[in-house]
Amino acid sequence: MAELGFSNVSKQFDGAPALQGIDATIRSGEFVALLGPSGCGKTTLLRLTAGFDQPTAGEIRLDDQVVAGHGRFVAPEAREIGIVFQSYALWPHKSVFANVAYPLEVRGVPRAARRARVAEALALTGLTAYGDRMPAQLSGGQRQRVALARCLVFEPRAVLLDEPLANLDLALRASMQEVFSMFHRRTGATMVYVTHDQGEALALADRVAVMESGKIRQFAAPEVLYREPADCFVAGFVGDGAVVSARLTGKTRGECMVLDVLGQEVRARSRTATPTHVSIRPEAITLSDSAMLRARVTNCTYLGGRFRLSLDAAGETLVAFSSCRAAIGEGVGMSIDDVWAFHDPDHEVRVTGMPSYA
Ligand SMILES: Nc1ncnc2c1ncn2[C@@H]1O[C@H](COP(=O)(O)OP(=O)(O)O)[C@@H](O)[C@H]1O
Ligand SMILES: [Mg+2]
Repeated sequence: MAELGFSNVSKQFDGAPALQGIDATIRSGEFVALLGPSGCGKTTLLRLTAGFDQPTAGEIRLDDQVVAGHGRFVAPEAREIGIVFQSYALWPHKSVFANVAYPLEVRGVPRAARRARVAEALALTGLTAYGDRMPAQLSGGQRQRVALARCLVFEPRAVLLDEPLANLDLALRASMQEVFSMFHRRTGATMVYVTHDQGEALALADRVAVMESGKIRQFAAPEVLYREPADCFVAGFVGDGAVVSARLTGKTRGECMVLDVLGQEVRARSRTATPTHVSIRPEAITLSDSAMLRARVTNCTYLGGRFRLSLDAAGETLVAFSSCRAAIGEGVGMSIDDVWAFHDPDHEVRVTGMPSYA
């Protein structure tokens, strides 16, 4: 299994940037998700990695080999990368067995070895009983397993998956996610999984690269994205909660700085000395009748075990969890503690109550 390296990779289509200065290393055996809204460049990055297209600038490496950049270009078939698309791209007139055997046939693997390796790939994806079926006789989830088996069978250096579950219904998606996890544990393959679904990315990946407008905003473990988002985009796109502007008070409490958030002094973790915003996750909010900060309930939904409340506090929408149901329009008191503060000057213009740099 290979490490994937990207150095300052950019791609333009007719002068319009689709990727801008991508720098990242995906470690050998790592399961990485590329997460971002439609049009942010996820598919373009996969296509450049697979060799279906060339970067406008920058360099892509597979282990120590430069596969694109500096006048070098290694053809897709020579990269030994497996790809699974949203549309399964199976041969309709070949059986499941023949579809999975195809990459080995192309590589001239002898018949007996071929049979053994196909049987193994079918077993890994739970398809042993389906070898003789034609693709048309399979469900969507089964077809996607065939696509996965077909890209596993030749032991690729990396597996790229482009929204592989987007065509499946919710229940099937959850069970297929387990198939991908299991597959990754059993093969130790380097996997790059593209999705616009944050639940899928956070559930599956060791690390998630959050993308927006052709750039990687943050590349970190799911729990780091949640607890320590780098900017307003990541804080808003990943996980629940609110992003609110904040002002330095100059005070500290223990390891934390104390910020002015919605007119209250709030304890914040941070990596910057000049925070402009805080990410307030639901866990940071405690509802209590005696609390100074007042809010109005604007929505209440049952999550199973607890309620999720949307709250309007000083014109900002916050999210809190509650053990009991609240009425829309009801007034509540709340305190905020242990938020994450970051510096995001790009968003200052849109925020009312400009933060100062005391
Ligand atoms: N072949 C192409 N020709 C022109 N523009 C393209 C082409 N492929 C992608 N783009 C543009 O590049 C941007 C990124 O697209 P894409 O990588 O498909 O995004 P995503 O997969 O995140 O939805 C979009 O603005 C898209 O319109
Ligand atoms: Mg795409």
